[in-house]
Amino acid sequence: MTDIADVLLVHGGTPLEGEIRVRGAKNLVPKAMVAALLGSEPSRLLGVPEIRDVRVVRGLLQLHGVTVESGEAPGELVLDPRRVESANVADIDAHAGSSRIPILFCGPLLHRLGHAFIPGLGGCDIGGRPIDFHFDVLRKFGATIEKRADGQYLEAPQRLRGCRIRLPYPSVGSTEQVLLTAVLAEGVTELTNAAVEPEIEDLICVLQKMGAIISLDTDRTIRITGVDSLGGYVHRAIPDRLEAASWASAALATEGDIYVRGAQQRSMMTFLNTYRRVGGAFEIDDEGIRFWHPGGPLNAIALETDVHPGFQTDWQQPLVVALTQASGLSIVHETVYESRLGFTEALNQMGGHIQLYRECLGGSACRFGQRNFLHSAVVSGPTKLQGADLVIPDLRGGFSYLIAALAAQGTSRVHGISLINRGYENFLAKLQGLGADIELPSLPGSPPAAVA
Ligand code: EPZ
Repeated sequence: MTDIADVLLVHGGTPLEGEIRVRGAKNLVPKAMVAALLGSEPSRLLGVPEIRDVRVVRGLLQLHGVTVESGEAPGELVLDPRRVESANVADIDAHAGSSRIPILFCGPLLHRLGHAFIPGLGGCDIGGRPIDFHFDVLRKFGATIEKRADGQYLEAPQRLRGCRIRLPYPSVGSTEQVLLTAVLAEGVTELTNAAVEPEIEDLICVLQKMGAIISLDTDRTIRITGVDSLGGYVHRAIPDRLEAASWASAALATEGDIYVRGAQQRSMMTFLNTYRRVGGAFEIDDEGIRFWHPGGPLNAIALETDVHPGFQTDWQQPLVVALTQASGLSIVHETVYESRLGFTEALNQMGGHIQLYRECLGGSACRFGQRNFLHSAVVSGPTKLQGADLVIPDLRGGFSYLIAALAAQGTSRVHGISLINRGYENFLAKLQGLGADIELPSLPGSPPAAVA
């Protein structure tokens, strides 16, 4: 039974209108915090959002002797790694909880302490999410890995050595693993078939500020020349293009108009093209991007997710809600995660018409084709959505349910909203600022509580 404080009542039918601000990217900030571990001097990170993933990494760093303090400016963190020490395995396990970030502590801890421990990892249930690439690359650098009941124990018997690595798939996490390990390894590392997401480029900027030597070629090849030591950095994180796109989809699905302060065209070009093809309108200025529904019918489209510069998989779920309002048959082919369309079942309960398929529909064959994964969808619209009881499955699925409930007629009860705190800063206050009719249900016998 969900804790009542974790349920939100959403009265649908009100277009979202107004302005919100996005801060540093959820998929960069925690990695930049981990990078500070590699330095012999303190680092300052700016634009840090108040989200759960940041709190988890802050705690893990403090367990390893790093002091993490809030700086003068709002959203500023000062990280001092000069007294790194081993942490208690049980504490790491207890703290890692729902995050996948602990795996990225490997390289820095092996360099600083000669050993590292990785507990069982969390993260959104959107696919198998194996970490085999991570351990393959760490072994290539010379680390030894022992699997025990409570987790993986890693050792660096001697200084880790640069090597040649080709990733089987341009995985973001494994590319970050190589970057955070190769910068202090002996010699040159050549990584091919690397991920080149904007968050990867920003992490490379962080490491270069610390003294690293890293080149990024256009053919997904990254070359890192190891150095003997690194300093600290001062860096402002790139804004969260995933959160920005979520609010853009919310504007479309609720027939609203939202100015997203901080959104940047450069990291969202593919999303903007798709948004325009669906019939959404946007306007770009130096401070942000305005997204609105221009009125009239929306267009059905064929959408295929892919690694950057393709359509980002984390943009898919919020946009699918808007596609339920488009005229005709939209085709969605999810090629990054094998189980990221399960959330559509609840949309069908609300009156959506979404059929799932195992075939690779509307695009090129992917890793999941001919296997038992429902990773393609046909969305037929427009359909009127009705309020319903919704249980949040994962971060982006959760935000999509909020959008669907806001676009629906009637009232929805959305259970498990705290999960959204993992990646969306102050989302309740932002929703209310945009005119959303929402409330936290009251305890039996007391009046409904307004959203704080
Ligand atoms: C990062 O996850 C992001 N998370 C994800 O965002 C994002 O969806 C993903 O990159 C892709 O862009 C963070 O940065 C914290 P991957 P990551 O390694 O690094 C397979 C969100 O909602 N793979 O690029 O875990 C894997 O199964 C989250 O913000 C292996 O097979 O993603 C998947 O199919 C969700 N073996 C594909 O690669 C491995 O060892 C992409 O994974 C590693 C990955």
